[in-house]
Amino acid sequence: MKKLAHALAATALAIAVAPAAMANDCDPGERVTKFSHVTGGTTHPKVVAANSFAARVNKELNGVMCVEVYPNSTLFGDSKELEALLLGDVQFLAPSLSKFGSYTKKLGVFDLPFIFKDMDAGMRFTQSKTGKSLLNSMEDVGFVGLGYWAAGMKYFSANKPLLTPADAKGLKFRVQTSDVAKAMIAAMGASPQPMAFAEVYGALQTKVVDGQENTWANIYTKKFFEVQDGTTETNHQMLAYLFMTSKEFLDSLKPDVRAKLMRIANDVTIEANNSVKAAEALNRSNIVKAGGTIRTLNAAQRKAWVDAMMPVWKQFEKEIGPDIVKAAANS
Ligand code: SIN
Repeated sequence: MKKLAHALAATALAIAVAPAAMANDCDPGERVTKFSHVTGGTTHPKVVAANSFAARVNKELNGVMCVEVYPNSTLFGDSKELEALLLGDVQFLAPSLSKFGSYTKKLGVFDLPFIFKDMDAGMRFTQSKTGKSLLNSMEDVGFVGLGYWAAGMKYFSANKPLLTPADAKGLKFRVQTSDVAKAMIAAMGASPQPMAFAEVYGALQTKVVDGQENTWANIYTKKFFEVQDGTTETNHQMLAYLFMTSKEFLDSLKPDVRAKLMRIANDVTIEANNSVKAAEALNRSNIVKAGGTIRTLNAAQRKAWVDAMMPVWKQFEKEIGPDIVKAAANS
């Protein structure tokens, strides 16, 4: 009986962490690799890119290697995934650039409010000499950047209308684990609450926090709009992901396999960045169709947000690196 209970528990666990069906295509004898991420839905740019990467590896390295995709924090959530990569428990990740604060301060440049006019400017920076050098700024830790995946601009949502930063005064906002993001919320006269992505919906619903900041894809696919008064088109940051692996894993591959893998990673990165704007437009319209409220800002309201947040640049310029900040601001 005890044995049966154990078997049932093991089966339940296996089902609970089963990878995305379409991407789980491993045959006997293939090297099984895992891609863990925290997002979900079908219209999310990271979901599409991760599945596309897995499908290409499973086809083009058939018999040699396969990729299983674990979305929605089902294998590892925010707090564990980077450590798991170093331990070899997962081989591919695409965390938000805001989640690397304990490894490097340089990527904090992506969190500086209003540093990028729009997604094109952010993507230009990722392709610049400085941006490319940041891709492998954590080589000493054992992380290898395979490419930047742009995810969209970020917007504030809250349980009351937000038109100027004064409206946010006294509210509590969930942020990613980024010191820059925390300082930005404090500059609005609000309180930052760092929290794993998987916990955000529940925290908004139970009013543990009043608001959050994210892309249309995350606001739509995680249904944040359902438990918020509305979302304001602040466009205050670009969210982007570091599509990554570990040096140990890459070094363990035969040169021809590594070369094929890198080519697929590069193709998928280009494809992901080419389609992200259309995906974001779709997620935005899906929110509106589902009854979510989206507020736009006039020039004076936008200026009030910029003015409130600009002091954050000075606060972090030195630790990020003045040259990096300048290159990003000029992109
Ligand atoms: C993600 O898009 O990967 C999550 C972003 C967040 O934690 O807000």
